[in-house]
Amino acid sequence: MCGIVGFTGHVDAKDILLDGLKRLEYRGYDSAGIAVEDDSRINVIRRVGKVSELVSSVGENDCLGGCGIGHTRWATHGAPSERNAHPHTSCAEDIAVVHNGIIENYLELREVLEGRGHTFTSDTDTEVAAHLIEEAYKGDLLDAVRSAASQMIGAYGLAVMCIHEPGKIVVTRKDSPIVLGQGEKGAYVASDIIALIDATRDVVVLEDNEFAVMTPDSIEYYDRIGNAFEPEITHIDWDVDVAEKGGYPDFMLKEIHEQPRVVRDTLAGRMSGNEIVIDELTLSRKELNYVDRVYIIGCGTSYHAGLIAKNLIEAWARIPTEVEVASEFRYRNPIITPTTMVVAVSQSGETADTLAAIRDARVKGAKVFGITNVLGSPVARESDGVIYTKANKEIAVASTKSFIGQVVSLTLLAMLLGRVKGKLTLPQTRMLFSELADTAEQIEYILQDTSAIDEAAKYFEGRTSALYIGRGLGEATCYEGALKLKEISYIHAEAYAAGEMKHGPIALLEDGFPIVAVATKSPTYDKTISNLAESKTRGATIIAIATEGDEEIKKVADYVIYIPRVRDSFMPITASVPLQLLARSVAVARGCDVDQPRNLAKSVTVE
Ligand code: AGP
Repeated sequence: MCGIVGFTGHVDAKDILLDGLKRLEYRGYDSAGIAVEDDSRINVIRRVGKVSELVSSVGENDCLGGCGIGHTRWATHGAPSERNAHPHTSCAEDIAVVHNGIIENYLELREVLEGRGHTFTSDTDTEVAAHLIEEAYKGDLLDAVRSAASQMIGAYGLAVMCIHEPGKIVVTRKDSPIVLGQGEKGAYVASDIIALIDATRDVVVLEDNEFAVMTPDSIEYYDRIGNAFEPEITHIDWDVDVAEKGGYPDFMLKEIHEQPRVVRDTLAGRMSGNEIVIDELTLSRKELNYVDRVYIIGCGTSYHAGLIAKNLIEAWARIPTEVEVASEFRYRNPIITPTTMVVAVSQSGETADTLAAIRDARVKGAKVFGITNVLGSPVARESDGVIYTKANKEIAVASTKSFIGQVVSLTLLAMLLGRVKGKLTLPQTRMLFSELADTAEQIEYILQDTSAIDEAAKYFEGRTSALYIGRGLGEATCYEGALKLKEISYIHAEAYAAGEMKHGPIALLEDGFPIVAVATKSPTYDKTISNLAESKTRGATIIAIATEGDEEIKKVADYVIYIPRVRDSFMPITASVPLQLLARSVAVARGCDVDQPRNLAKSVTVE
C-alpha cells in the first residue's frame, strides 16, 4: 500500500521519479506527489487521482533538480485529497518526507508536537514524521531520522530529504519494503524493485530498523545503533518487460496469458528420481511424516488457493487441513502443536494480516512455510522456509497468474505429503505430476479461443448480481471466480456450494438471474446438474464451465464454456482461466479499469 521512490544523481530527478511512480501505481492510486530540491527550496507538487494527473500537472520547468522523492498513495489516515497527498513537509518546509505504512501512535505524537508549536497541514499519520525530524534536526539528517524512527510505533518505509543537506536522501524502514540500488546516473530507492530495475539489477533489500544514506555517487548503510555495514547485494534476473503490457490492452490480460509459463516454471526441477522435491521445506521426510495437522492461511485470492489445497492434502496425504483467513487466524486461539505445519500464502509477501498470523503461529511453536511471489519479502524472511511461485512480477491488482502459481505450488506440497505419508505410490505420483504439467498446454488451448467467454460476458450487461456455484473443488474454484468478478467489474457476486442453494440463496432467483457454474466432469457432476436444474426452473440463466464433449450440460445451461478434460484435482487450474477472462470481459464492457480497480491496492500492508 503506497509506493515510494527517491533519486539523487547527476541528472534531473523529476522524470525518474514520475516513471518510478507509474511503475508503483499498483500499490495505490488515489493521489500522488513529488518533491525536488533546487538551490534554495524543496518544490512539492501533489495531485489527487492517478499518477497521470500528477504527470500532466508537472510542467517542463517545474521541479528541476537532481534530488527528489515521490509517492503514490492508498489512503489510510485522511481522505484522498491534495493536502493529504505526500510528500509532507516540516513547518519550515526544509524537510520533506514520503512514507509507506501506518504510524500507529501518530495522534499522541501529533499532540506533543502541536504543544511544541508545530503546525500541521494534513490529516495524515505521515506528517508527524516530518515534524519529528524537524524537531530532532541538529545538522545531521541521519541522526534526526533515527531519532524520529525511535519514537514511531507501527510500520514505515521512509525517504527523507532536507534542503540543508543537498543531494542527500535518508531512508529507513520497519515492516514496509524498501530496496535501493546504485545506477550510472545516481542512487535510487523504491518500495519495489520494479521502479529501479531499468537503472540497476543489483539491489539491496533494506531490513527493519536499518538506515541508508543516499548521495549521487554512493549509498551508505547503517544499523539501528549507527554502525556502518556492507549490505548483501541481490541480483535481479527477471526481465524488464514485466513492467510493460507487451501489446496487451491491460496487465491483467497479459498476466492471464502468462499462466502456461507459470505452470511450467513452477514445476521445473520439482521431480527428481520420480520423487517430488521441495527442498525449501527445511524438514526431513521423517519430520514431515510427523505432521498431523496443516493450517493454510492467507487473504483473498491466496486464501482461495488454500481452499483448493485443503481438498488435495486431505485426499492424497489424509492430513486434516484447515484453511483460514489470516485476519481471523491471528485473533483466534488455533490448536497448534509441534506437529502442526502452517503454510502462509501471499503473492506480495507483505500482507499485514498474513505476516501477523505467521508471527503468531511461530510464537505458538509451529513451523511456518511461506508461499510467495516476491523475493526477500517479509513473508519469505519470517518463515522457516519459503517456496517461491514463479509468476514473476504481477502488476494487475486482481491476482491471476500468481494464483495459478500458488495452486500449483500447493498441489506439489500435497503430493509430497502424500508420498511421505505413504498414501501415494510412486507410479501414482508420477502420473499426477505428468497430468499437472499437462495443464500448461490445456491453459494454452483455452486461451486460443475465448469467443464463448466473450459471448457469455455480454449477458452481464445491466446485471447487478451473480451467484457462482459448484461442488467440491468446483466450489473452491467458484470463490476465486466470484472474487474476480466483484473486484474488477463491481458486480456483486457470491460463491456457494451448489448443494447449499436450496438452503437459502435460491430465494434470490428471479427471471434472468445469472448463475456461473463450475460443472465439469467430476464425481459429483450429476448432483451439480440437478442443482442447476433446480435453479433454471426458478428462472436463473446458467453460464456453465463444462468439460469438452459434454452435451448433456446444454440441457440446463444457457451458455457453455468448454475446457479440456482434466483430472478433477487439477480442474481448478484450468477452470479458473475462463473465470478470470469472463470477469475481465465483463469489466472491460462496463468501462472499468481492470488493472486498478477502485478502492483496492495490490499489497495490503495495513490491518
Ligand atoms: C486478489 O485479486 C486480490 N487483489 C486480493 O484478494 C489479494 O489476493 C489479497 O489481498 C492477498 O494478497 P497477498 O496474496 O499479496 O497476500
